[in-house]
Amino acid sequence: APGPLPRDMLRDLLGIRRDPLGYLRSAVERWGDHVAFPLPTTPVLFVNTVAGARRVLVENAGGWTKQTVQYGALSLVTGSGLLTSDGSAWREARRVAQPAFHRSGLAAVAEQSVAAAERLRARWDAGAAAAGDGPGGAGGGVVDVDAAALQATLEVVGRTLFGGDVTAEGVDDGERVVAAVLEALGVVVSRARTPVPGWLPTPSRRRLRRANRVMDEVVERVVARRRATGELGDDLLGLLLAAVDEGRLPPEAVRGELVTMVIAGHETVASCLTWTLHLLAQHPEAQQRLHAELDRVLGVPGNPGGPSAPAPRRAPTWEDLRELPWTRAVVDESLRLYPPAWVVTRRSEAEDVVDGVAVPAGTLVIVSPWLLQRRADAHPDPERFDPGRFTGEGPEVPRGAYLPFGAGARLCIGRDFALTEAVLVLAALLRDRAVRPVPGREPVLEALVTLRARDGLELRLEPR
Ligand code: HEM
Repeated sequence: APGPLPRDMLRDLLGIRRDPLGYLRSAVERWGDHVAFPLPTTPVLFVNTVAGARRVLVENAGGWTKQTVQYGALSLVTGSGLLTSDGSAWREARRVAQPAFHRSGLAAVAEQSVAAAERLRARWDAGAAAAGDGPGGAGGGVVDVDAAALQATLEVVGRTLFGGDVTAEGVDDGERVVAAVLEALGVVVSRARTPVPGWLPTPSRRRLRRANRVMDEVVERVVARRRATGELGDDLLGLLLAAVDEGRLPPEAVRGELVTMVIAGHETVASCLTWTLHLLAQHPEAQQRLHAELDRVLGVPGNPGGPSAPAPRRAPTWEDLRELPWTRAVVDESLRLYPPAWVVTRRSEAEDVVDGVAVPAGTLVIVSPWLLQRRADAHPDPERFDPGRFTGEGPEVPRGAYLPFGAGARLCIGRDFALTEAVLVLAALLRDRAVRPVPGREPVLEALVTLRARDGLELRLEPR
């Protein structure tokens, strides 16, 4: 049986809050791939094998729920929603929402992604011009690409889900609701670190209540506006409203699912973009190949300084996606090394056997894509950034050992949304500029709700 001394583990368990990734890594190094914490109230199994992940996420997915601390905290913000619900409520909501993530929905994602990237480019160029970094052309200078990624993904998810409506006050409803969700999420995350009884009227509770009110109010307005058009539409909002009208979903599901998508689809994609840009800055040869691919697809400018203005490289479109296999492989490989959703948890409804370990009902199981995707037996030379793994040039990636989007029935519904967004934002941003590291400003990895760069990520932009 796997068995270090519980006392040892309990002492160590305190370290999990300080440095969860380091803790998980040292746990498997010391105790192996199945680490059981026989805590009396909640037995915990940390399993770091393909077979273990497969058992709880795929084979016996129905026997494992999301009644865990991780998802409990999120549901304080979402109410019930796809990410945190279980059983028949989850199944019906998934059925209703799924078509919104099919092809036609992705076209809207592509459009919003390029638009958000173009606004970001304009801000960067304006900043560079103001700083006197040369006239026109692609702006240079040092920027916090993490802050930029958070802003761009906020705009994409807000405008895609809420139609980008501008209210009377001139503030975008999508952005308002996203800001409120972030506020609420911040409260929930910080509360998880310092437990306070739920009934205490602390400032954080007041912030949470206020944020919840904003979410309610904006969603209500967005719904009223949609209903007033007399057409529900076939985007997510339309599908949810139709399902409520048909009695398939409870009315509160509309808010729950919209807020869920913001939570699941904002910081995750930003994290992906941040770490991808970091990796590209660290690996100039991979970046060069990406630039060559973008030049091939988006064109190259004519002779600068010639009599006619150089034709700028054009912005990418949805149709370009399949012409960008290297850019996509860079994103895939970045999601292997830095999976934004670095941990996935489940609770067993009944006893089960997870990769040879018998666990009682009520066991909390922890699977970490971050660790699994750095296993040397699955990914040769695992710490090496090699997008070739995803183009057939490098060692093949075993499917079960690559789960940045989870696996099985609860696979991320936003997977194609995220990949479309990440590839197009990168293509739009990097088509005429390069990212370089800033010496002395190495990002500090921090595992919060997603994998973040603690103080942001500063990179130098260079026109090319
Ligand atoms: C579920 C990762 C982007 C919506 C998941 C899960 C993972 C994941 C690992 C499964 C969690 C589990 O099994 O416990 C990611 C990553 C993303 C991303 C790494 C970006 C790179 C998105 C986007 C959306 C989204 C853009 C929506 C717009 C969801 C939802 C679920 C989910 C609703 C729950 C699905 C269900 O249980 O039926 N995501 N996600 N995600 N994701 Fe994503």
